[in-house]
Amino acid sequence: MMVLSPALKRIKPSITLAITSKAKAMQAKGIDVIALSAGEPDFGTPRHICDAAVTAIKEGFTRYTPASGINELKEVVCEKFKRDNGLDYTSKQVIINCGAKHSVFLAVLALVGPEDEVIIPSPYWVSYPEMVKLAGGKPVIVSCSEENGMKISAEQLRKAITPKTKMFILNSPSNPTGMVYTEDEIEALGKVIVETGIYVIADEIYEKLIYDGIKHVSIASLSNELLNRTITVNGVSKAYCMTGWRIGYAAGPEEIIKGMGIFQSQETSNPCSISQKAALAALNGSHDFLGPMLVEFDRRRQYIVERLNSIEGISCNKPMGSFYVFPKVSSFYGKNLRGTEIDGSLAFCEYMLNEKHIAIVPGIGFGADEYVRISYATSMDNIEKALDRFENGLKELE
Ligand SMILES: Cc1ncc(COP(=O)(O)O)c(C=O)c1O
Repeated sequence: MMVLSPALKRIKPSITLAITSKAKAMQAKGIDVIALSAGEPDFGTPRHICDAAVTAIKEGFTRYTPASGINELKEVVCEKFKRDNGLDYTSKQVIINCGAKHSVFLAVLALVGPEDEVIIPSPYWVSYPEMVKLAGGKPVIVSCSEENGMKISAEQLRKAITPKTKMFILNSPSNPTGMVYTEDEIEALGKVIVETGIYVIADEIYEKLIYDGIKHVSIASLSNELLNRTITVNGVSKAYCMTGWRIGYAAGPEEIIKGMGIFQSQETSNPCSISQKAALAALNGSHDFLGPMLVEFDRRRQYIVERLNSIEGISCNKPMGSFYVFPKVSSFYGKNLRGTEIDGSLAFCEYMLNEKHIAIVPGIGFGADEYVRISYATSMDNIEKALDRFENGLKELE
């Protein structure tokens, strides 16, 4: 028998990617599946960004770049952090990676050693605990209540910290809940971080996807002490509809960023040269496309939340950011379809996919089995049709 690495026994595959590929396989067989599972905008990459990539190819910018990314892009990232987030970083404090997922992973790898604890509020993005386990660390999951908007409070954070705690992962706006931390909440968390001397990864990838005029606050901008304890992660995937281009970036204390660069140099070499030029055009270029995209996401958000809350047995908080809703569906657990019991979010989503042909993601992957994640990064037509199917599916359960 083939013996594979013990790490493979510890790590689960990404449930969101698994559902999305199952939905795609069903679509390829001609089944009319509506996918509300993907974590990517349904809009194309803006034209001027694509043009910059074409120019890069034509000009022969097709070779290895410095492993940690081109300096030109690092400078532009520094300007972006200053302009949008009030953060002062030098280009030595910035690294360009192969997607924000890669940035988070390298930050974890650079800081977390065997037995180190990393505090992760749940519901969490599926990859955080697995990344910590890959680094040999121990994810410490803190459950966040619906009453607190599914956000971790400063008291909860303080209580979870032990002498082994190395780091805390903060994701705002959140995947999967769409919740956004207020400045006061972030300030309270920041106080605990500084007082206890832990580090924080601030995953701000959904920064630009935010509604109702709410302000996104970068934790590192609150004080110098926090700046020195934070790795701020962002990227071009979500805001610029560039999920396939694979460019993310991180900024933080020079020593940590240098450590991340060492791993990257041995692991992937540089992020794609052409995509770096495209990311440069994204950050430097016109942001005019963003307004209409947000208006459309907002329209879908309003519709989907209202519609879900009108269904008996479903409750759904109104998210303030990202493009997900995270309704509670557990009142349907224990019900049956032709003798098969829906015993949790996995069975619930399998039922919806196999019988109703809509792909949504089980909350269990995000550490919250009572919920499911529905992405509204698809057309209004699809959303309406999918919710009809969803509602019918619930009615058929006994
Ligand atoms: C919270 C969060 N962080 C990071 C990422 C990764 O983004 P990228 O595609 O740039 O790797 C995602 C993508 O789904 C995400 O939801």
